[in-house]
Amino acid sequence: MSKVAKWVGGALAVVVGVPLALFGFFWVRGGAFLAAVHEVPAEPLVLPADATTLSRGAHLAAVYCGDCHADDFGGKMMIEDAAFAMLPAPNLTRGLGGVAGQLDTAGWVRAVRHGVGADGRALFIMPSEYYVNFSREDLAALVAHLAQLPPVDRELPARRFGPVGRTLAGAGPLRGGFPVLRIDHTAPFPEAPPAAATAEYGGYLARTFGCAACHGENLAGGPTQGAPEIPSPNLTPGDALGSWSEADFVDQARTREGEHMPWPALAKMTDEELQALWRFLASLPAQPTNPSPA
Ligand code: HEC
Ligand code: HEC
Repeated sequence: MSKVAKWVGGALAVVVGVPLALFGFFWVRGGAFLAAVHEVPAEPLVLPADATTLSRGAHLAAVYCGDCHADDFGGKMMIEDAAFAMLPAPNLTRGLGGVAGQLDTAGWVRAVRHGVGADGRALFIMPSEYYVNFSREDLAALVAHLAQLPPVDRELPARRFGPVGRTLAGAGPLRGGFPVLRIDHTAPFPEAPPAAATAEYGGYLARTFGCAACHGENLAGGPTQGAPEIPSPNLTPGDALGSWSEADFVDQARTREGEHMPWPALAKMTDEELQALWRFLASLPAQPTNPSPA
């Protein structure tokens, strides 16, 4: 072989070989990360059975869970991209393809509050880092309702990460989407303030819903989840909502549609809940808008 051919061969080995080795490394690491079984201690719940608590549970489920798990809770596909991931928000009922039969009350707590599925997998995108803020009473009401849902037969494709998703999970960038890694698993249940049209209760709604996921920790604007190039507006007084009244907020929540803001969930809130959210936003210190993501 000539010197030039040897040099070209060597360079090629580096240009092709190094990325291939890196890909292989992250592929293997991603596979191990995704297959890991997470053991988090979760307390069982005593489920209430009175009609008032069950109807509160039904309301919480509709507002918080219906957008992703479908309004009949039979589940739906959240991501369908063979290269990245196939991701169902699973069927939560006892019907065909449903998970309810595999979950005792501790299993529900582990999924909702700790971000771990019935099989021990780290749940992706399921907003458990916010649901950890539910009071024990609210979580029990929610689970009591979900555990007795009418069965829906809907078998969705299983979760599967494609080559892109798997290597990103191995290399790191995808890990922010797995709440189990960020949750303080020893945190006790917080108390919920009385449900009323108060700023205090609005703060509880915002913390459990996770307005901060998109609007930023201080609610002064942030990158939208799932579409980081789109900024979510600054919700602190005097900015995007500067000219809004409480009635405008309730009206927008009831009627507005949009691709990235979860308006359908807000539309299911009661007037009292929307007023509470508004009063909470109005009570925040005014903040300059957070810098948008690069
Ligand atoms: C933003 C979308 C989203 C919302 C809102 C959401 N979930 Fe999920 N949930 C998911 C996805 C996606 C998965 C599956 C994740 C995976 O397989 O990695 C999941 C998984 C679960 C599981 C685990 C099932 C299993 O396989 O063991 C339970 C239980 C669950 N969700 C309950 C709820 C409840 C209760 C609520 C409302 C309080 C809720 N979810 C709200 C997206 C969501
Ligand atoms: C998944 C991301 C996401 C979450 C979670 C979210 N928002 Fe938004 N929000 C957006 C985006 C994006 C917009 C801008 C597009 C639009 O108005 O539809 C927006 C717009 C708004 C607006 C209208 C602002 C204007 O200038 O018109 C209000 C009010 C609002 N959000 C309040 C909330 C509240 C309150 C919560 C929690 C209960 C919340 N958002 C949770 C993404 C989100």
